[in-house]
Amino acid sequence: MKKELTLSNGNIVPTLAYGTWLIKNSDASKCVKNAIEAGYRHIDTAQAYRNEVGVGKGIKESGISRQDIYVTTKVEAEYKSYLEAKKSIDESLKKLDLDYVDLILIHCPQPWDEYGSPNRYFKENIEVWKALEEAYLQGKVKAIGVSNFLKEDLENIINHCQIKPMVNQVLCHIGHTPLELIKYCKEHEIIFESYSPMGHAKILDNKEINLMAEKYHVSVAQLCIKYTLQLDTISIPKAQSLSHIIENTKLDFEISKSDMDKLISLDFKINYLE
Ligand SMILES: NC(=O)c1ccc[n+]([C@@H]2O[C@H](COP(=O)([O-])OP(=O)(O)OC[C@H]3O[C@@H](n4cnc5c(N)ncnc54)[C@H](OP(=O)(O)O)[C@@H]3O)[C@@H](O)[C@H]2O)c1
Repeated sequence: MKKELTLSNGNIVPTLAYGTWLIKNSDASKCVKNAIEAGYRHIDTAQAYRNEVGVGKGIKESGISRQDIYVTTKVEAEYKSYLEAKKSIDESLKKLDLDYVDLILIHCPQPWDEYGSPNRYFKENIEVWKALEEAYLQGKVKAIGVSNFLKEDLENIINHCQIKPMVNQVLCHIGHTPLELIKYCKEHEIIFESYSPMGHAKILDNKEINLMAEKYHVSVAQLCIKYTLQLDTISIPKAQSLSHIIENTKLDFEISKSDMDKLISLDFKINYLE
């Protein structure tokens, strides 16, 4: 398992990222400090998480040099014009209190209340992408990418814009492995990031996964995280509890090829937002 992956522009990204969705701004600095102390060097936030101020504070107070922490944020899914996106990138930098972020993503091809609808916002995403390209060329962001993009959304950017997305951050966990999209991203030198590697904690009591975790003498969470890393993707587990934060970094085991195949073949639906 690789501890780092290289983006198409040559930048190095740590493969284990600390997710911060649902961490309150008031708790974020402490959580981020705990995560950095536990060894994470990649922090994932978003404008929509409303915790960029706390995340930035945690990074500053960690005592680790800025250049040794990889920071990702995301432009609100609802911002679908060049100007809104451009303004929001500057606001993110201000809130995080950073001179640059390592990676910025379009959070979703569609505004959340239209998620999965037939309107893919092709024209608008090209506009937003232009703001990301501009920030990249100005050095405000060191890499640019997307999130929740399907193949058709990626093709829209690849075919109509100057710079290809460097990353696509997508839901991926045991029971839900979008293999075709992972393959497409690999073919186009787009690093795939797996979000919710534990299925938002909804797969932790799954019997088959528990049996497999017992076999490797690891926790279900550790097996879930390791699975996404062994798919050669970046894994973004979120944990607020200190014991979870630490446990999720202890990944010194290897899932066999045949067990990976078994896990890849599992296919079940979880009620994600319940
Ligand atoms: N781009 C997008 O649209 C998008 C969407 C969703 C998520 N994400 C990113 O992906 C990150 C992770 O996704 P997620 O928060 O949905 O779900 P997740 O990481 O799959 O699961 C988080 C849940 O698992 C629990 N947990 C963590 N470690 C555990 C352990 N060792 N044992 C038992 N339970 C454990 C956490 O509890 P505690 O917090 O209580 O420790 C929390 O309830 C987010 O924070 C965000 O950064 C991105």
